[in-house]
Amino acid sequence: MGSRIVATGRALPRTAVSNQDLERFMDTSDEWIRTRTGIGCRYTLRSGESLAEIATQASRSALERAGMKAGDLDAIIVGTVSSEYTFPSFACQIQTQLGADFIPAFDVAAACSGFVYALSVADSSMRAGDFRRVLVVGADALSTFVDWTDRRTAVLFGDGAGAAVLVSEPGNRGVLGSLLRASGKHWDLLSCRAPGVRGTLDSEVRRDADDAIKMKGPELFKIAVKSMEEVSRQVAERAGVKIEDVNLVVGHQANRRIISAVAERLGLPQEKVFINIDRYGNTSAASVPIALDEAVEQGRIREGDLVMLNACGGGLTWGANLLRW
Ligand code: ACO
Repeated sequence: MGSRIVATGRALPRTAVSNQDLERFMDTSDEWIRTRTGIGCRYTLRSGESLAEIATQASRSALERAGMKAGDLDAIIVGTVSSEYTFPSFACQIQTQLGADFIPAFDVAAACSGFVYALSVADSSMRAGDFRRVLVVGADALSTFVDWTDRRTAVLFGDGAGAAVLVSEPGNRGVLGSLLRASGKHWDLLSCRAPGVRGTLDSEVRRDADDAIKMKGPELFKIAVKSMEEVSRQVAERAGVKIEDVNLVVGHQANRRIISAVAERLGLPQEKVFINIDRYGNTSAASVPIALDEAVEQGRIREGDLVMLNACGGGLTWGANLLRW
């Protein structure tokens, strides 16, 4: 018995921040950001807004599309590093806001790879027979962890949440396989100390540079391309699928050049790659489920298609899931 995504959903903060908005208070330009990253706009949390509520909205939308109620779920697994509380977990906050109770709910911390990790955990538990209906969420708000005076990182991140409902199913559709990797020795390529203070763009609160996201962009870029290519090839090989038969890659939206380079190394044409980084920036664990939800909505994924999800992020962590839609 395997698992299949039967519905997806997404939700975003209310405020869109364009590159031009950033130009007004930062030494940057729309041209630099677009050329180097592909980002044109991102949504950022404002003070008083709650990421847990946004994640709950995305979850409700996925549940509605699945024709299910929160009470039908057996578990909630959330990929996030942005919980507003050290504990309870983000998953427990979403559980209560959805009106579910008793079912296991827990977070998976793998930064930008959070959704790919959470999906793999959900699929394995379902194959083991532990759960039959699982809500998997990816939600992050890394804009609240940046130093808004550091143009090298502040322009990259946006906030949001995406969700998927998985059900146990026999047959050959659903998650064909997943592969997860981590390399702690590269932890300092992208890191952020445990957040005491969270700042939003509109609040007076500013994170101390020492407590903000730190990133070694160019090193990370190279590892991200190589690792996402390798893990995608390996997961396909294990599933007995030829890479050229993949219909759509829905990868982590960190940088348009990373996404294109991975596709090129895999020998896939650009039309087999889904890109929405221009409108959302890097939403960390939310990026894959937001992109998946949009790809489905736009009719880019049809029944029977082979879909590759892949991601790389802080840890370093990386991984891929191969799905037969
Ligand atoms: N606006 C204008 N100029 C800028 C900006 C900015 N926002 N940021 C950096 N610059 C300048 C730098 O100061 C530097 O100027 P200098 O040569 O005078 O010193 C110049 O642009 C080039 O800087 P680099 O850091 O070398 O630029 P690069 O082409 O490597 O692009 C980037 C930087 C976009 C961060 C890229 O390295 C990248 O995307 N790396 C991957 C990191 C990533 O996506 N991390 C997120 C999560 S991890 C993951 O998901 C894989």
